[in-house]
Amino acid sequence: MNFPGASPFDLGDPAAYAAWRRGKLATAPASLAELTVEVKDPRALSAAERAALVACCARANMAIYAGGNLSDDKEIPRMLGLQLGLRTLDSNYLADEDGISALSVAGAGEGARREFIPYTDRAINWHTDGYYNPPERTVRGVILHCVESAETGGENQLLDPELAYLLLRDENPEFIRALSEPDVMTIPARVEGTDAAVVARPDQAGPVFSVDDRGFLHMRYTARTRSIVWKDDAVTRAALACLEGILKRGTPWTCRGRLEPGMGLVCNNVLHDRTAFSDSPTRRRLIYRARFYERISG
Ligand SMILES: [Fe+2]
Repeated sequence: MNFPGASPFDLGDPAAYAAWRRGKLATAPASLAELTVEVKDPRALSAAERAALVACCARANMAIYAGGNLSDDKEIPRMLGLQLGLRTLDSNYLADEDGISALSVAGAGEGARREFIPYTDRAINWHTDGYYNPPERTVRGVILHCVESAETGGENQLLDPELAYLLLRDENPEFIRALSEPDVMTIPARVEGTDAAVVARPDQAGPVFSVDDRGFLHMRYTARTRSIVWKDDAVTRAALACLEGILKRGTPWTCRGRLEPGMGLVCNNVLHDRTAFSDSPTRRRLIYRARFYERISG
């Protein structure tokens, strides 16, 4: 929701926050079933299907589409995104040339990918996508399309970042202040190979919570502890411990589910994790992932 003038995310405006909080809690979904939209063909939504997906995203920042019987078309995330206002793909260097990543377990011949956890069958801890990107490449929209699910595992938990914000602010507004500092979270430079002169990505410092020029909340976060440097002060440490507790214990609004062939997630880059999984010769997990600079819009 957009709030011209008063922002619920302004720590100096508790009344705007209280009004927004009431509405958020009154409409927060308790399960993914409430956010699941049956679609015939995600490449060509009907007006009603599109409106339903946009409404779910306005309410909870995410929606699941299901029911389309086609699954292996790499154009799906791009064509679906265009219908939801997602126009500009973020192309990381492991994405294919079309800017869409085919996430599956990397084989022995795929050196660079094997270093990155999305291309393994291991569990992935809570995060938002692209947390290591510079501000001009902020990932606001994400689509995951499932071509094939694993033999076992590969489930996701999902949490609307606005609810994480709400729980933290209810606990202590100072936690929000600390996590909004522009240098609270730094991703150290990544160096290619052994040559320190070849920097694949420079240091990225930034806030966890920020509000964009249209008033929308954005969250940048990873629960991983390697390759990340947090600001070292008492309030930041307490805020992070509180957030970790929220994610680990679960909340009434933490959604759980597994994408099956033909299903997908469209979201405003919500918090998510992934359980470990096992492929079999006939069931190799394959997810097409597209990241966009825009949010989902009607
Ligand atoms: Fe992710």
